[in-house]
Amino acid sequence: MRILAISGPNLNLLGRREPGVYGRETLDGIHARLERRAAELGCEVLTYQSNHEGALIDYLQAHTDDAHGAVLNPGGYTHTSVALRDAVAAMPFPVVEVHLSNVYAREEFRHRSLIAPVARGHIVGLGPYGYVAALEALVELSRQ
Ligand code: DQA
Repeated sequence: MRILAISGPNLNLLGRREPGVYGRETLDGIHARLERRAAELGCEVLTYQSNHEGALIDYLQAHTDDAHGAVLNPGGYTHTSVALRDAVAAMPFPVVEVHLSNVYAREEFRHRSLIAPVARGHIVGLGPYGYVAALEALVELSRQ
């Protein structure tokens, strides 16, 4: 079983970026957590980050036929990208949307996600653990 873990723009800056909002853990640290948990669950996790909308879409499309699920933190594209939403809707596997911060406790423009209606589930506000919880959920769903 192969699960993708995809992070969008500015998430490469985790650890240094607004630590009061996003914490001190780096994206490499989150990827290491995912790899540890994936090994325990007996699945493979492929991690990817890009600051570019088209690159995120290309990555999803490249794995259309060889992935069983995706953890997706679309970053700021959550609130703006029809194209990323359409790519998620086109995938044959479930996508769980993750946000480190509780977007509903923040600015109004973060309350609307274009991705949420086409995601299988949605995890917000749990910090790095949200990525791990999404991985666990995808493995569970695909074993059902
Ligand atoms: C975020 C929330 C988004 O609103 C923001 O643009 C991000 C990070 C999160 O993980 O909390 O870049 O997706």
